[in-house]
Amino acid sequence: MTPQTGNTERPWLRVGVPLEQRVDALLAEMTLAEKVGQTHQSANLDPEVDHELIRSGGIGSSLIASGATAGNERDEGVRVSAVNAAQRIAVQESRLGIPLLFGRDVIHGHRTVFPIPLGLAAAWDEDLVCRTARLAAAEASMDGVTWTFAPMLDISEEPRWGRVAESLGEAPVLAGRLGAAMVRGFQGEPDSGTATGGAGSAFGDAGTVAACAKHFVGYGLVGGGRDYETVQVGENTLRNCHLRPFREAVLAGCATVMAAFTDVDGVPMHAHRRLLREVLKDEWGFDGVVVADWDGVGQLVNQGVATDPRDAAAQAIAAGVDIDMVSGAYAAHLAGLVEAGQVPLDLVDDAARRVIRLKIRLGLFEHPYIAAPPSEPETISTPEPLLGSRLLAREAAAASFVLLSNNGALPLAPKPGRVLLTGPFAHEGEALLGTWSLDGRGEDVASPASAIRARLHDDAIIDDGRFSDRTMHLVRQSDLTVALVGEHPSRSGEANSVTNIGLPAGQLEVLRAMAAIGKPLVVVVFTGRPLDLGEALDLADAVLIAWHPGIEAGPALIETLFGERSPGGRLPMTFPRSVGHLPSSSLARPTGRPIDAASDPLTGRYLDALVVPHLPFGSGLTYTTFGYGPLRLSAREMPLHGGSIEVSVDVTNAGERAGREVVQLYLRDVVADVTRPLLELADWVSLVLEAGAVGTATFTVTPAQLSYYDRTMTLRTDPGEAIVTVGSDASTGSSARITVTD
Ligand code: NOJ
Repeated sequence: MTPQTGNTERPWLRVGVPLEQRVDALLAEMTLAEKVGQTHQSANLDPEVDHELIRSGGIGSSLIASGATAGNERDEGVRVSAVNAAQRIAVQESRLGIPLLFGRDVIHGHRTVFPIPLGLAAAWDEDLVCRTARLAAAEASMDGVTWTFAPMLDISEEPRWGRVAESLGEAPVLAGRLGAAMVRGFQGEPDSGTATGGAGSAFGDAGTVAACAKHFVGYGLVGGGRDYETVQVGENTLRNCHLRPFREAVLAGCATVMAAFTDVDGVPMHAHRRLLREVLKDEWGFDGVVVADWDGVGQLVNQGVATDPRDAAAQAIAAGVDIDMVSGAYAAHLAGLVEAGQVPLDLVDDAARRVIRLKIRLGLFEHPYIAAPPSEPETISTPEPLLGSRLLAREAAAASFVLLSNNGALPLAPKPGRVLLTGPFAHEGEALLGTWSLDGRGEDVASPASAIRARLHDDAIIDDGRFSDRTMHLVRQSDLTVALVGEHPSRSGEANSVTNIGLPAGQLEVLRAMAAIGKPLVVVVFTGRPLDLGEALDLADAVLIAWHPGIEAGPALIETLFGERSPGGRLPMTFPRSVGHLPSSSLARPTGRPIDAASDPLTGRYLDALVVPHLPFGSGLTYTTFGYGPLRLSAREMPLHGGSIEVSVDVTNAGERAGREVVQLYLRDVVADVTRPLLELADWVSLVLEAGAVGTATFTVTPAQLSYYDRTMTLRTDPGEAIVTVGSDASTGSSARITVTD
């Protein structure tokens, strides 16, 4: 297809004209109906059925998904021929030739599936996250996807909520930095935007897609962990915690933001003018697109704040929702609302302007079509994962693994004797891809069984995976057992909340029986959420969290068990003691009656249990140990304006193998205008150290890291005392007091 590079009658097609001029030129030509068309998104646009809709300019984008909870279902994939045919109608037959956007949930890889986002977050590695998103964008754009609905940036301390699998963990700084890295991966690094005639990210380069920060905001606070439940939170907590990763994504140039299904303190997000229009768009200067979540506009009726879809459309456009995903309320009612004087035309203009701006930035007017494989126009074009893609998937999977306990059973000796591999995931492909792996294929997955067979040949005993009496015979006959347990992805993701965060039914009983036999037992846990692993930790000689690791699950796991790779992950969410302890996280703030856990550990808050989490945020072992030297500070006083303090610590690899340590910096503002976290992650440094080597982790502490929103929602940093803590997780570390001076 020849790109359309210029046209005197269609100045918006002129490459090189400043972006806003192109947008203005096109908007000036559009009728009200065409503007409304840009705000309408349907699912799975069909070039035949929807021919007239597209031709009339009545639609601006299509979502390619199986339905309302698409992350839980496999669909038939993207049909390149259908995308091109629909696009051809839009570009060649509609009056203004405005191309369509095609959105799809490319969440943790496309055909090459990487670990679930919670697993990627466990790697604490922005560069890795960026590279996985870049590859996903390259693959997805080959299928005609121009827009993905990621990163998911919901902060949650709720393991009952299935959607934590999609999140980047509980700490705003971790989720914010990794989310921004994901945005850069999907969209390309920001540059001068010469191709699009304006400043900003160089969208439109081949192999990039628009990103979407979701779900704005507070969705991670759903009551009881029940999906879609109402949310009680005030603006101060939103600003000091939940909004922060979104701010990072917006600063990284994220093109779009998705509204959350939930309400915030009584106001549904799809009608939340204060947060969408006043904070996101006006205060932050976000000039991208706000998209509804699936039927989120229509659901305002279910939420009891709109009388009917017409009323819902009026409220949502006023709040700042630019694209109505599938409810159809905008398409049916917006024009009428404007004509009746019930919705100002400016609001529709603003929404259409944002969509047009995005399309120009993406280079869609120049390159609307996908280069479909000529021989198989009906098939999905994404090829099988290449070797390089597989190696990245393997690197990401291994980097996500978190070693929770190890009494020396790991790494396995090169010749460990007869090793039994058992459990429901031994032969799995599909289940190791995790939630939201729409274009992944079970047959692409290198299973644990195939990987251990390739390694140990006849010394690998591979069970049928069903945990039966036969399994116990095999445990007896083996020198060591590797039990693969945990959750199937159908127990995590959207609409899959649970009340029990223990291992699924029966698995603990099997582990008890195995441990009773007395042979070494290594437990690998596949999961999409933090689990209560208390007893499993006692029973096993080693426990490794493997999340849902993606297509290279087997090789990554076997290489890690045998020590060719060291587990490098650290928990991005607290693993609590039990459901009865929720919420349990690193986000706690001081109360009027502090817990003295040291002197009173049993009655700290509960009469019947310890209050401290089982496995704190940031924790994780590897195949060596690290010793921390004393904290060194370049100064004890930090001027509020322009000051900084260097904080450093020497870390020694005290073991016999090389390893990676994630050195974590936590801060606390001792006296503030509002309650501030007792300990909040502010930064991290990862050190890769040979056996015996000493490395130095150096952090630059600045007043900005201590800034927060006060009672009047003003950002400020206070003079006064702060506590700096450096350690290997949220529960251990050395602290020093510093003073912020006026
Ligand atoms: C609903 C989910 O909440 C959202 O995350 C997803 O992007 C949309 N459906 C589109 O599939």
